[in-house]
Amino acid sequence: MRVCSYEHMRFLLPGVLLGTLLVTSGLSQTAPVAPASASSLDVISTDLKALLANGPRVAGSESIEKARGYLEAQFKALGYETRRDEFTYGRFDDLGSDVRVGSRTIAGNALQGSKGAEVTALLALVSGVGTPSDVAAANVRGKIAVISRGQNVPFAQKARNALDAGAVGVIIVNNTMGELRGTLGGTLDLPVLGVSQADGALLRSGDSVTLRVRTVDRTVRGANVVAYKKGVTAPEILFGGHMDSVVRAPGANDNASGTAAVLDVARRVANTPLSARAYFVLFDGEEDGLRGSRAFVANNSAATRGLRAMFNFDMVGVDVTPLAVGGTDSLSQAAQRVIPSLQVFRDSGGSDHGPFIDAGVPSLFFHRGIDVNYHQPGDVTADPTLIRDATDTALKLLDTALPSAR
Ligand code: BES
Ligand code: ZN
Repeated sequence: MRVCSYEHMRFLLPGVLLGTLLVTSGLSQTAPVAPASASSLDVISTDLKALLANGPRVAGSESIEKARGYLEAQFKALGYETRRDEFTYGRFDDLGSDVRVGSRTIAGNALQGSKGAEVTALLALVSGVGTPSDVAAANVRGKIAVISRGQNVPFAQKARNALDAGAVGVIIVNNTMGELRGTLGGTLDLPVLGVSQADGALLRSGDSVTLRVRTVDRTVRGANVVAYKKGVTAPEILFGGHMDSVVRAPGANDNASGTAAVLDVARRVANTPLSARAYFVLFDGEEDGLRGSRAFVANNSAATRGLRAMFNFDMVGVDVTPLAVGGTDSLSQAAQRVIPSLQVFRDSGGSDHGPFIDAGVPSLFFHRGIDVNYHQPGDVTADPTLIRDATDTALKLLDTALPSAR
């Protein structure tokens, strides 16, 4: 699930950064909102700091539990009620996997679905991308096959081809910068490790190595935080974003930024009629396959069916591209008519609006593109001004998403 799959980003149109031009506006019929003030930008910084204080907010971790406590306290201070919607799912975790060559230890990532095992064997470098003939040419029987990541052959296929040819392990070498993470899509009776391109270059045919893949299948207990004004059970609009992050990534842009955006909307509309028409939901388990948003839609079907719109904020704190909207075409096109400078892109539903679109809820996905620190330890900063700009934009679009005429 954590393999890069961002072809949709190429649909982003070039354009100018919206900057701070959007901070003032009418919001006429639907919601008079609190003005954006400098002090409230400080509040966004405080939220970001609190969310980032305890390390990566991996679903099921203590860190995300602390984030939940912080978020609930903020909503309550604003006069909202909160509840936790709990759900469970299975997750494959890597407990630390590597390959040892002589005195050198190369850290890697077990591919999801890999067998946990320790094997010592000779390396066989496969040229090509791991087709059956590539593998046959390398004579991998009894050896650990080293195969490059490649566009047209899925990880599972490469590994299966090696297994069929008698390999006792597989190392997949990235073909681009950074660590290699990926999934086999199902389980395979073979240890399969992903390593970076730089580390892969250290591996030579004939080297004797020890491949160690240590994995566990866990049951994760996730919980979405749902905030609403007392008595609201039939929201017309849902503002959402995921609060979890991936292992090792602090998740400032992905997605403390979107979490802070949801809180910012909640603060700005707290004393307006809109607050009685909205749900605010911080999803858990997004990075494990949209678990929280799928659970929400499945377990709140009446509330979901009644929604006129879902606004999802994911990665809105780093300006890779100008703020863009994806999601339901009609809604994003309408949004662009209201704000002509707003970029519209065709997204593949790889965030929490996906399950809502599948459930027939018109949805808008706000984001600013994929930064270099995406899912990396360097994802440590998000800019409150950009987050505020996203909430300004969202609030400007309320009349479009919730036309007063019913
Ligand atoms: N925020 C990211 C990815 C993202 C960025 C999606 C910009 C769309 C536009 C999200 O948290 C993520 O990593 N999603 C996964 C999919 C999910 C089903 C595990 C992905 O896109 O690989
Ligand atoms: Zn995200």
